[in-house]
Amino acid sequence: FKIKNAELEIVCGITSKLPNNTQPEFAFAGKSNVGKSSLINGLMNRKNLARTSSEPGKTQTINFYHVNSEFYLVDLPGYGYAKRAKGEVEKWGKMIENYLHTSRVLKNVFLLIDIRHEPSANDIQMYEWIVHQGFEPIIIATKADKLNKSQLPKAIKLIRQTLNMPADELLIPYSAVTKKGREEIYDIINERL
Ligand code: GTP
Ligand code: MG
Repeated sequence: FKIKNAELEIVCGITSKLPNNTQPEFAFAGKSNVGKSSLINGLMNRKNLARTSSEPGKTQTINFYHVNSEFYLVDLPGYGYAKRAKGEVEKWGKMIENYLHTSRVLKNVFLLIDIRHEPSANDIQMYEWIVHQGFEPIIIATKADKLNKSQLPKAIKLIRQTLNMPADELLIPYSAVTKKGREEIYDIINERL
């Protein structure tokens, strides 16, 4: 898998109209600060094309990154960001839901979960929503570099159990630091292009 070029092509705010893309889209969902933008940078082989921050709530628009003039990586705003006004949170929820619901070229929704934490009620809700919409959920357990080898199996098991995942569903540990897990994600994208 080779990244020839990547650019931020479309930015959608609350009031923007969603694009009507014809090439495949792959979306990345998860709570604020879980590492969505970092993962997208890793996949694009770019350090900071997608803006990241140690402060949650960095990505506040739906950002469409066009890769190899062939497909889109879609960076979604994180949920569960407490500092946002309630009305705003609802509008955002609706916009994300609207996007996931209406895109006709969305191939996969990757749901990111911090490998160190038990999935929250919001994570479970998002997971069930993905399933309900007929997508095959793919869980990315982020920040895998924060645990040592002996801690990983237990952490993965906790995520699987909390989400009630069938054994044949994919859970991929990923690290933005070591890029562990990147090839597996490329393979999934490649299969669906
Ligand atoms: P929002 O845009 O606020 O929803 O957050 P996000 O999910 O896009 O998270 P972002 O990629 O901005 O990362 C949040 C913080 O976690 C940053 O400080 C990143 O450097 C850090 N981070 C992301 N992925 C990893 C990882 O795999 N390992 C480690 N150690 N840190 C990570
Ligand atoms: Mg972000």
